[in-house]
Amino acid sequence: MAYNLLKGKKGIITGALDENSIAWKVAERAKEEGAEFTLTNAPIAMRMGKINELAEKTNSEVIPADATSLEDIENLYKKSEEILGGKVDFILHSIGMSPNVRKGRDYGDLNYDWMVKSLDVSAISFHKMLQVAEKMDFINEGGSVLGLSYIAAQRTFPDYSDMAQAKSLLESIARSYGERYGRLKKVRVNTISQSPTMTTAGTGVGGFDTFFDFADKISPLGNADATSCADYCILMFSELSRMVTMQNLYHDGGFSTSGITQKVIDHWEK
Ligand SMILES: NC(=O)c1ccc[n+]([C@@H]2O[C@H](COP(=O)([O-])OP(=O)(O)OC[C@H]3O[C@@H](n4cnc5c(N)ncnc54)[C@H](O)[C@@H]3O)[C@@H](O)[C@H]2O)c1
Repeated sequence: MAYNLLKGKKGIITGALDENSIAWKVAERAKEEGAEFTLTNAPIAMRMGKINELAEKTNSEVIPADATSLEDIENLYKKSEEILGGKVDFILHSIGMSPNVRKGRDYGDLNYDWMVKSLDVSAISFHKMLQVAEKMDFINEGGSVLGLSYIAAQRTFPDYSDMAQAKSLLESIARSYGERYGRLKKVRVNTISQSPTMTTAGTGVGGFDTFFDFADKISPLGNADATSCADYCILMFSELSRMVTMQNLYHDGGFSTSGITQKVIDHWEK
């Protein structure tokens, strides 16, 4: 159901690789809610993914950008401003990648060049996108910037490896930049901490199926899927959340505050 929540709003959506991506669902919902936006992803994802299909569906243009490159971000903002005819009201950072996770490196044997890459791609890129936006005065007053996080920032999940550090850093940047951008321009910065979700990035983590099932059983509402995450992103881009900033918002069916649930008790009593 559409509510016109983003009517007249302009934005940038990063990270849509294929129809399973959280960003893909956000783009579909943003379109339904009346927003105009550009899509972006790393140049390599243009070849691997299906972003052009999404662009056609949402009547939007794709601007390739490596989110770790300041030059690419500047170009992304300049081109978006031309295409959209003005500054933006929202930005979704939906980007994560760890070479250590991808290549199955043990946490006690991390490759540190790869760890630096994980932090740069998955967290520092969030700071870069905010800093370039501030310098170019690219976000309208009251605008909303969102990153996507995971509860491994607070609790341990062995196979999540250095992505746990990346998510802690991402959440910390949301607080620090949220304070700054709120004071300067009333721009809001938040992260949404999402349930395990069946996407390329998600299923790349070792033991994913097990912790997907575990989280589902320990969340009173079950795991939140990508579509409901997209709905929450729309709410956070809308006027309805205009006083919310510097928060890490759990979107996880209750996982983050559950001790044990009846489903888990039933499972172990079998
Ligand atoms: N899937 C889950 O279980 C889950 C849970 C919580 C949070 N998240 C977070 O949600 C976000 C989106 O991931 P997803 O699950 O939709 O998976 P996804 O694989 O569909 O999306 C990740 C995206 O990051 C992009 N990317 C990687 N390196 C990049 C770079 N250098 N520049 C620009 N883009 C780059 C990829 O091309 C891809 O589109 C990530 O931050 C992820 O950590 C995912």
